[in-house]
Formats: sequence, structure tokens, C-alpha cells
Amino acid sequence: MTIMNAANIKMTDHSPSLPPVVAKDLAVVILAAGKGTRMKSDLPKVLHPIAGVPMIRHCVAAAEGLNPGHIVVVVAPDMENVAAAVAPHQTAIQVQQLGTGDAVKAAMAQLGDFKGDILVLYGDVPLVKTGTLASLVAHHRNGVGFGATVLAMVPPSPTGYGRIFQNADGTLARIVEEKDATEDEKLVRLVTSGLMVMDGDGLAEHLAQLNNKNAQGEFYLVDIPKIMSETGRPSGVVRGDYYELRGVNSRAQLAELEMAWQHQKRLDMMDSGVTLLDPNTVYFSPDTQIGRDTVIGQNVVFGAGVTIESGVDIRPFCHIEGAVIRSGAVVGPFARLRPGADIGEDAKIGNFVEVKNAKIGTGAKANHLGYIGDAALGAHSNFGCGAITVNYDGKNKSRTVIGDHVMIGSNASLIAPVTIADGAYIAAGSTVTADVEADALVIARARQVAYPQRGKGRLKKE
Ligand code: UD1
Ligand code: CA
Repeated sequence: MTIMNAANIKMTDHSPSLPPVVAKDLAVVILAAGKGTRMKSDLPKVLHPIAGVPMIRHCVAAAEGLNPGHIVVVVAPDMENVAAAVAPHQTAIQVQQLGTGDAVKAAMAQLGDFKGDILVLYGDVPLVKTGTLASLVAHHRNGVGFGATVLAMVPPSPTGYGRIFQNADGTLARIVEEKDATEDEKLVRLVTSGLMVMDGDGLAEHLAQLNNKNAQGEFYLVDIPKIMSETGRPSGVVRGDYYELRGVNSRAQLAELEMAWQHQKRLDMMDSGVTLLDPNTVYFSPDTQIGRDTVIGQNVVFGAGVTIESGVDIRPFCHIEGAVIRSGAVVGPFARLRPGADIGEDAKIGNFVEVKNAKIGTGAKANHLGYIGDAALGAHSNFGCGAITVNYDGKNKSRTVIGDHVMIGSNASLIAPVTIADGAYIAAGSTVTADVEADALVIARARQVAYPQRGKGRLKKE
């Protein structure tokens, strides 16, 4: 079995979060005010989704795992949508995008007289794990007198990243941005992920010392360690994993990170006892939950809010979101489950069947070509080929309630609101407009009329 090309991706969570008492001395600042011009988009970069969730929410989740005393997200003035995406966390407004150092300055105002450690994350570095951040902070706190500690990496190509230069004792000497680097400096492969933890005590003064005399005319946060070293405080370097720390600057990189995220999720799913017949073609959401011994066929997409119990068979080409699927059920091929679908134990939902806001009872079947919306289908009932619930009259949605052991004949239309009681039998082709009592046989269609010979010659002979 081949598992996509990036087979060496590693995004393991190394350690649990910091003990809460220590974490209270920690503030996390997430930078998200950049324009993201390289995305060529009307949407702020950090709102572009990975696994259906805005990139920035992945960062926020990693930060939340640390249980820090504060989380502040730095946004530009017109980014109400980013503020909404990170709520209830507070935001700080960076009035003009003058660089990453200036962005941290904007956050400092929100932090008041906070003197603990300040961990800076970048909203466009979304795959970072809580455990990695906890290790970074722990390493920083172990370093004697460290002013800052930088999370470094060695990417396949260092282009675009700030190059790291170390002193003989391994402490950080300086970081040189790509655009400021000489040809010799560009040869260095150790780069900063941008993520860094700093001592908050005195940081405001250091930030005030930053200047923008560089190729981009920006106040670079990465200059802070050098400023600290001038006051005699060393900074540390911790090396992390490129596959976890790479950033998104373009749509191509966004797609790469989506692949990496999906790859990791597929591995986690298989690890927890789920069979994926062709892992590369199955797409998950962060909240997808699947029980052991469930088998997922090829080309299946899970949107948000899906819970699947154990021993379920999902056949190829299904699109499933907001649904619960119970043990022993069989879904697909080519089924679409929309929000509110609740598929009962041992039930069967077959090809080209759409289910929305509907509870399908134990052992019930809808095997071919149907729509069940705003409805309940009782246990062991059979919803025939081509049958539909007519739930929408152009203005309102209405419910269809079908009891247990009911037979809905092929191509029946059930005009909601309507109730069909236990044991009833609806003849094929019926248009059901009134409630049906238990065990009744209903035939609701025009009687067949036959005119001898009058069909002859009506189809032109080829
Ligand atoms: C930055 C680092 C670089 C590092 C790379 C890692 C600096 C100067 N450079 O470069 O050393 O290797 O990340 O991915 O820090 N932002 C603001 N306000 C601003 C400018 C940026 O909030 O005024 C935010 C952006 O939204 C983004 C983050 O800061 O989330 C990084 O900015 P970006 O312009 O992408 O920096 P890079 O060029 O990638
Ligand atoms: Ca970036």
C-alpha cells in the first residue's frame, strides 16, 4: 500500500502540556496581522482552511493546550473576521503592518504589566503541536539566564526563512532574513520557524530598541535575541521538525500542509483500528471520530461533525458531514449524509441516497436513489428505490414520520407533513398526501388506462 509521497512526515506530540501552575506565567501571542499578499486572496491568509478549519484555529488549539494565562491574537484593523474566528480570545490591533516586531509591540499593550514568558506563534505556521511548544518553553526555562529561545528547523530548502547563526557555545548569535542575507549567509540551512519564547520582563524596552534599517524596512522580531545579547543575556536554539514548523505563504504551500495534515490523520485513524482501503483518498476533519473495525472505502470525504461507531462499512465515494453512523451499518457506495443524519445499527444506505436531518432506525434500508430529509424511518422499514420525502413546499420544511416495518414502494413521494404508522405498505409510485394508519395498504396513483392499437407508429422508425 502506498501512503502519499511525504511518507516521512512526523508530527508526534512529544509531551503533554505544561503543569498549569507554570503555564499561568505564560502568555501566548499569535501574529496574524500580515496581509498575506502571496496568497493573492480577498480572505486573510490565516482564515484559509486546513482540514476545513481556518489555519489560525489550529494555532489557537495548540496554544490552548498549554493552558497559558493569556492568549492574544494580533490582527490588522480590518480583520473583524479573524477576530471572530479566534473568539473568545482577545485580539490586539496592529494599526500598520510594520513587521513582526511591531506586531508583538501591539500585543504588549493588552498584556499590561505581565512579566512572565511570552511565546510568539505565527498564524501562518499552523501544524505546530502543543507538545513541541511545551518543550520549547521548558528548554527556555532550563537555560541559565536565557532572554529568548528560538524554535529552529532544517528545511529541504532554506529559501525564504531567516538563517540562524550560533556562537561557539551553541547560543544564538543572530538571525538574518533571506532578503538581508549575503550569498554566503544564504548557504546556512538552519533557519528559524519564527516561533520564539522570550522573557516578558523588560521586553517592551527591547522592542522599543528595534529598528527598521533592513531590506524590507520592517521591525523584525527576529532581531530581539541580538538586542538581548548586547545586554549580556544569551538566547537558546531548539531544533524542531520541519514538517510541523513550515509556514504557509502561498496556495501551493497551503495544499502541502493540507496533505500533511490529512496524512497524519490517516495514520492516527489506522493506528486506532480503522481500516482505510486507500488512505490517500480519504479526507478527514479534525473532529472525525471512528470506532475500531470500521472499514472506509476509497474516495470518502468526512466534513465536520461525524461520529462513526465500530464495525461500520463505508463504501467508496461517500460524502458525509454532521452525521452519526451506528454499529454494523453499511453506507454507500455514492451516499451523501448531511447534517442531522443518524443512521441506526445495521441500517443500509445505498447508492445515490441523500439523508438530511433524519433518523434511520435499526436495520432499516434505503438502498437506491432516494432523498430522506427532515424525517424518521422506523426500525426494519424499507424505503424503496427512487422514493423521496417531499419536505419543502417553497417556503417551509415539514417532517415525515415513518414507523417500524413499513414498506415505502419505489418512486413514492411522501408529501410532508405526513405520518405513516407501523406496518403500513405504500404501493410503488404513490403520492402520499395524508397520514396512513398502521398496517394499511395505500395505493395513491392514477389507475392505468390502455387504448388498444393507439400506440402503434407513434415512435418514428429509424
Ligand atoms: C518570518 C520570519 C522568518 C521565519 C519565517 C518562518 C521575521 C522578520 N521573519 O518570515 O525569520 O523564518 O517567518 O515562517 O519574523 N505579521 C504581523 N504583522 C506584521 C508582519 C507580519 O502580524 O507587520 C504576521 C503575519 O501575519 C504572519 C507572521 O507574522 O502570521 C509572519 O509574517 P510573514 O510576513 O509571513 O513572515 P515571513 O516572511 O514568513
Ligand atoms: Ca510566513
